[in-house]
Amino acid sequence: MIMTGNPFADRDIISTLDFTKEEIEYLLDVAINMEDIAKNGSTLLSNKILGSIFLEPSTRTRLSFDAAMKHLGGQVIGFADWDKSSIKKGETLYDTFKVVESFADILVIRSEWEGTAKYAAEILDIPVINAGSGAQEHPTQSFLDLMTIKQERGSLDGITIGICGDLTYGRTVHSLLPLLINYDVNLKLISPPELKVRLEDKTILESRNVQFEEAESLDEVLPELDVLYMTRMQRERFRSEEEFLTVKNYYVLTRSLLTKGKIDLLVMHPLPRINEIEPDVDALPQAVYFKQPKYGLLLRIALLGLIFDVF
Ligand code: CP
Repeated sequence: MIMTGNPFADRDIISTLDFTKEEIEYLLDVAINMEDIAKNGSTLLSNKILGSIFLEPSTRTRLSFDAAMKHLGGQVIGFADWDKSSIKKGETLYDTFKVVESFADILVIRSEWEGTAKYAAEILDIPVINAGSGAQEHPTQSFLDLMTIKQERGSLDGITIGICGDLTYGRTVHSLLPLLINYDVNLKLISPPELKVRLEDKTILESRNVQFEEAESLDEVLPELDVLYMTRMQRERFRSEEEFLTVKNYYVLTRSLLTKGKIDLLVMHPLPRINEIEPDVDALPQAVYFKQPKYGLLLRIALLGLIFDVF
């Protein structure tokens, strides 16, 4: 289907489930043309202010939205240390969001609570972007992950993708799978038995007849993979520290292990990395996890420009 008009204009970005394949491809096509703006800047959003509310730690997502808005000529207000905001005094999220709406034209929200961005979108008249909500969703990360695979491999169709690590609590996994169902991919879902992919994710894959297989051993499936998407154990979402410690070192990708993989394997990671990829892997051509944030900047420039419909 050929898109007529910009499907992202004035739109909330809450869940990857909300987007069709045509819309996803439209976004990626715009994003890859954002190099010039990322390099030379623009004044396209010079009259716009982005409200950035991060109630949970972030390096990439917050700074990349900040940079994207500035490359477009816009300004950013907000906070990343919520305990210095009036939430600390007991102000509700409802009141906080309503107040920021008075100052901003768009809101980017991260929270440890599932549904926070969705709630904000329901009560506000300005567009809301979900920058991560608990273990639930991180849609812009998953768009940039898809963009990375497409740019680095040329196509998503016909490839085998291994997703490895914490498949229960990892929100990037939960957001990525609904994007991958749009392509002819074969999935290997590699996790400890206690951190398997969620039932709802399996239901989504089955609903679209996506070929997938659950596995525990990374060593065994690695030779089959075209893409390996590593994730960290989401320590902050485990019920206890003891539970986390039992899986902390379950998967550690080493140079030695990678010799079993295809020569053109892509190794991805949404980051932050803790110990699941050894640092000496970084220098290998297979490692693209530091390219992902660069694609993320282009993707977020594209998304902001499309939401404000300025291209
Ligand atoms: N990938 C990602 O969301 O990183 P941050 O938590 O640093 O934003």
